[in-house]
Amino acid sequence: MSIYLNNAATTWPKPAPVGEAMAAFLARGGANLARGTSSARDMETLNSVLDCRIRVASLLGGWEDADPRYVTFCANVTEALNFVLRGFLRPGMKVIASSMEHNAVMRPLRALEERGVLLTLLPSDREGLLDPEDLRRLLRTERFDLMVMAHASNVCGTVQPLDTVAELCAGAGGPLVLDSAQTAGVLPIDAAALGLAALCFTGHKGLMGPQGIGGILWRPDFAARVEPLVAGGTGSYSHVETQPEELPDKFESGTPNLPGIVGLHAALGWIEETGIERIAGHERELGGKLLEGLSRVEGIQLTGKRGMEGRLPVFSFNIEGLDNGMLADALSREGFETRPGLHCAPIAHRTLGSFPQGGLRVSPGYFTTPVELDAFLEALPAAAERLGQEA
Ligand code: ALA
Repeated sequence: MSIYLNNAATTWPKPAPVGEAMAAFLARGGANLARGTSSARDMETLNSVLDCRIRVASLLGGWEDADPRYVTFCANVTEALNFVLRGFLRPGMKVIASSMEHNAVMRPLRALEERGVLLTLLPSDREGLLDPEDLRRLLRTERFDLMVMAHASNVCGTVQPLDTVAELCAGAGGPLVLDSAQTAGVLPIDAAALGLAALCFTGHKGLMGPQGIGGILWRPDFAARVEPLVAGGTGSYSHVETQPEELPDKFESGTPNLPGIVGLHAALGWIEETGIERIAGHERELGGKLLEGLSRVEGIQLTGKRGMEGRLPVFSFNIEGLDNGMLADALSREGFETRPGLHCAPIAHRTLGSFPQGGLRVSPGYFTTPVELDAFLEALPAAAERLGQEA
């Protein structure tokens, strides 16, 4: 028996069309992008990549009528954030981030700090929520060059007040970069309406695609101010030895992950058919059930909000007196797949008061069933009791 409760790490299973489209591409399509002629196979690749850009831009609120040129593909959200942060921030520039960031943001920022970029961290409360008033106060006295924020925590699921933060950044004339790792495909986002400078996404979580594909949805004027970190062949402008300024070429050197793009395209088609509201509603219901059950477990120390309002179904907790890694291991022997530890987000755990031990994270997804949650809620206290007796 295997019950998958680690959807915050990657959603699984993927909708059937994802694997089917990837297998078909590898078996029958498979041409490189813009590096051949106009054979049927070449055109098929070209159209799939273009259609995928269009789907990303329309789902996430692309600029200028969802112009597909402003969708850049790369490996994942970490790479996307590195492209934006390292490509834009220069010594002496000021950047604001929240105290709930993943290392995908913190590590590039700490490296940039060593080169003279000035970092201010906005505090968040014990539920992981930042207070827009703190940002308002900060912006009254400080100028800033860029703000970056995780839309929702990968540790405890808390969703930040994006609308207000975006309004404050726009009012102060500073670019806002969003890490949508946990929310793209799960919460409605409209990048253009929010005025986001760049929305960084990964394909393999809420977007339901394969691993190895992610990207950036750009505001055109901001993209023009970011240096490309990688230069090389783009299948275009082959007569020049310098990197093209035009998008998408500027940020997409080298052969892209085409099977990944084709898989993501199929996944986005599935999301369009299913509907984000339906996906979110179903996940909220599962989350509510799990939250209620977890709250009844003896000795549980749960992080994040106590209700489903303003949170995703991502729950991290400890059980008094027990090591969360050992508890996760005991549960995994019974077939329950979870993720213990610090979840690549030490600063978030510090904020939540769960550093250095971290927590056991449980995250159902669209395909999780209520019966599976019942089984987990029965197994958890039993495993905790056994471990407690062994200790
Ligand atoms: N960032 C992902 C997680 O939270 C991989 O597990």
